[in-house]
Amino acid sequence: MSSSPISSPPQRPVADTTEAAPENRTDAVSGTPRTPVQRPRRLRRTDALRRMVRETVLTVDDLIYPLFVMEGEGQQEEVPSMPGCFRYSLDLLLDEVKAARDLGIGAIALFPLIRHHQKDNAGTESYNPDGLIPRAVRAIKQAVPQMLVITDVALDPYSSEGHDGIVKDGQILNDETVAVLVKQALVQAEAGADFVAPSDMMDGRVGAIRRALDGSGWINVGILAYSAKYASAYYGPFRDALDSAPKFGDKKTYQMDAANAREALKEVELDIAEGADIVMVKPALAYLDVICRMKHHTNLPVAAYNVSGEYAMIKAAAQQGWIDEQKVMLETLTSMKRAGADVILTYFAKAVALALRA
Ligand code: PBG
Repeated sequence: MSSSPISSPPQRPVADTTEAAPENRTDAVSGTPRTPVQRPRRLRRTDALRRMVRETVLTVDDLIYPLFVMEGEGQQEEVPSMPGCFRYSLDLLLDEVKAARDLGIGAIALFPLIRHHQKDNAGTESYNPDGLIPRAVRAIKQAVPQMLVITDVALDPYSSEGHDGIVKDGQILNDETVAVLVKQALVQAEAGADFVAPSDMMDGRVGAIRRALDGSGWINVGILAYSAKYASAYYGPFRDALDSAPKFGDKKTYQMDAANAREALKEVELDIAEGADIVMVKPALAYLDVICRMKHHTNLPVAAYNVSGEYAMIKAAAQQGWIDEQKVMLETLTSMKRAGADVILTYFAKAVALALRA
């Protein structure tokens, strides 16, 4: 049986969309351009239209408010390089947490100012069950139970050397430090922390903390991993706030090289394999590409830390009258969200909540 050749059905001529319609071409004689077919400005005409087609919306739900706590009563001290940010004694910290809650902020991250005589090379105070952070967590959980409390896991505020790990012969010991971080995380979980946030950049710490939490029954305490934390000059004002600058050298043997982005993906893969629930890029503004790449690399929520130096730059320029603080703040934080951040830690949290309310 011979088959007749199958003829293809008649086809409608396909319109050539690559060329503009004749009436839209440049006038052949005069060379003046005719009306464009696409006018992107049509979608920018009114506020309602702009809102309708807006791709990225910053909300108060995205924010984590970092707070500094210190010993004492009835005290608050402004951090000189961070205007508008204070170290609070525990009683006043509670007022600040309530104020944050009243503005709709759902999460805070706590950082302690530790007194000099309580600092040592091994960061012993970091796992004191009656230390400043465990007391702060308990007090907050009692006063504002719905507030999500995140505690930082690292030795630097507790270290006489100002490093995130135990120092021996000028080196930062990894595994010995991880053992201390595990104790610190357990004390924080015991106090009621919802999330622990290792910010130390020791290898293997996320896995060690996850195993220890699970082993002690804290299966619902999450890990917000500072996965790609860079050795950055943007942390200066934070170190002023906590008096935690390194006493020698820098943090380049554990924090990442600012030039590396693929290495951030390696770090994030390790942290996910080790049990991280949320992964973070820090700083944020100079690392928007890293946030973007991380977002494409994982289905976990991605956090960005709008760090102290980023805050200080905006504040300083605004104080000079050189920029509009609120507009630059919102534009900057929106850029982080647009890059892929689901969650943003920012000292501007209250200001953002107020601005978005208006
Ligand atoms: C400490 C830690 C730092 C920050 C958060 N956790 C400083 C550092 O690594 O030296 C910086 C935050 C900021 O600059 O706002 N592990």
